[in-house]
Amino acid sequence: MKNYVKIFDTTLRDGEQSPGATMTSAEKLEVARSLARLGVDIIEAGFPAASPDDLEAVRRIAVEVGNPPIGADPASTRVPVIAGLARATRSDIAKAWEAVKSAAHPRIHTFLATSEIHMQHKLNMTRAQVLEKIGEMVAYASSLCPDVEFSPEDAGRSEPEFLYLALGEAIRAGATTLNIPDTVGYTTPDEFGALIAGVLANTPGMHAGITVSVHTHDDLGLATANALAGIRAGARQAEVTINGIGERAGNTSLEEVVMALKTRHPVFGLETSIDTTQISRVSKLVSNYTGIVVQPNKAIVGANAFAHEAGIHQDGMLKNNQTYEIMRPEDVGVSQTRLVLGKHSGRHALRARLAEMGHALDEVELDQAFARFKELADRKKHITDLDLEALMADEFYQPLSLYVLDGLQVTCGTMGLPTATLRLRGPDGKIHTRAEIGTGPVDAAYRAVNAIINTPNTLLEFNIHAITEGIDALGEVTVRVQAKNGAQTMDAQKEQLFSRIYGGHGADTDIIVASVKAYINALNKLIIAQNEAPREEYGVMLG
Ligand code: KIV
Ligand code: ZN
Repeated sequence: MKNYVKIFDTTLRDGEQSPGATMTSAEKLEVARSLARLGVDIIEAGFPAASPDDLEAVRRIAVEVGNPPIGADPASTRVPVIAGLARATRSDIAKAWEAVKSAAHPRIHTFLATSEIHMQHKLNMTRAQVLEKIGEMVAYASSLCPDVEFSPEDAGRSEPEFLYLALGEAIRAGATTLNIPDTVGYTTPDEFGALIAGVLANTPGMHAGITVSVHTHDDLGLATANALAGIRAGARQAEVTINGIGERAGNTSLEEVVMALKTRHPVFGLETSIDTTQISRVSKLVSNYTGIVVQPNKAIVGANAFAHEAGIHQDGMLKNNQTYEIMRPEDVGVSQTRLVLGKHSGRHALRARLAEMGHALDEVELDQAFARFKELADRKKHITDLDLEALMADEFYQPLSLYVLDGLQVTCGTMGLPTATLRLRGPDGKIHTRAEIGTGPVDAAYRAVNAIINTPNTLLEFNIHAITEGIDALGEVTVRVQAKNGAQTMDAQKEQLFSRIYGGHGADTDIIVASVKAYINALNKLIIAQNEAPREEYGVMLG
């Protein structure tokens, strides 16, 4: 379709590879389900060669999200393509195929660098060797899978004439999607648009069945502008991540590209399949799982994206909201102040509202959600959609439960030492109790957690915010922790660079309880990852 842009979401691959975005397999599956509901065309579910756990996570997504639900009519049920990334090696490609082959529509995405600097210093290969390798590996991928995507890594800094040759080799060997990455976010919109136009015009063997794709990084803050310039020049696939997470400064974000195409439809004349009313919810989910807080002024999904502070703006908004609003908050699923339910609402009302918000619960889950809802309604008079989202995230989207908070009491204030008494249930079901003092109640509680869990870590970030207005608001905490190498084998700088960062999230009307939940959530992930097979850190070299 000439006027359709495929949305290729790489939150679970390029996004997950960014510092601190590590997600567990269960979290990845939940994100993949949300992406499918959001309407993305392709989910890049991971890099299967990174570790056996990564392969398994991609495989589960291929099985569970890449196929119609049992009983559904396959002809009329839309399921996304599931892609797995592979370096241009037989072993990576075989692993990617192993991971995606059970999807209804599998894709192998393989890549090899084509810029002088990467070929000389990273690959140590000549141009001729690179061309040969592309032909050989794309042909191998095509022999396994009918849908193959090839990316010339660092295309943005590659010499265009050589790039065209490399892409021509990929077409000859069977690739049907050619993705053009600006791996280091170096180009400007004019340059990137011209590059895409050049690829379309000059690549040997280019034909209507080939989709040209854009993959832009944000090192100069130009990722979205570059992606849109590439689309205007003829690219019909955009590689994006939720909230723009990704290597270094991140990737262009799904929400920005999609809302630009939608809001400026007369300029672009292009469609996507995204249900934009789900954007805010998926953004929140990804932020909660990764612990990467969305900056308040982030376009589309930031807390201030639809807030109007200046008097003159507020005045204009009251007269006509189009004076200062180019999109309606509802278009992206923001319904900040909507009063949904209260203390006297019943199970049916809760189920109906959650279903409208995209949470389909079975009876057991509904009982669980209802119990939490009643508990919250006792403490908080007005419950909004945002409260319900936080409750769902806290109750259901925390699939890890090695250690679970069983009880907490803190004393603090100006009249004594801040003290926390904490009870945790451990993986073996045993209850551990510990009391600690600290500089404040959170410090005391975190010391107690550390005394029980005993996993060396550094708390890098702690964020707390009220989900809704009002003194009785739910508090939401996100933390980021980094594993500390207990054996001290690396120097401090290297350790800081290479140790993975884990995010955690917690919500409660009691902010100390929310803080402890978030910390335990992050430490659970860290412990699980330490017990998994080591991950191959290919991401150090690429974006
Ligand atoms: O930025 C990049 O070059 C990548 C490729 C693997 C597509 O992420
Ligand atoms: Zn990238």
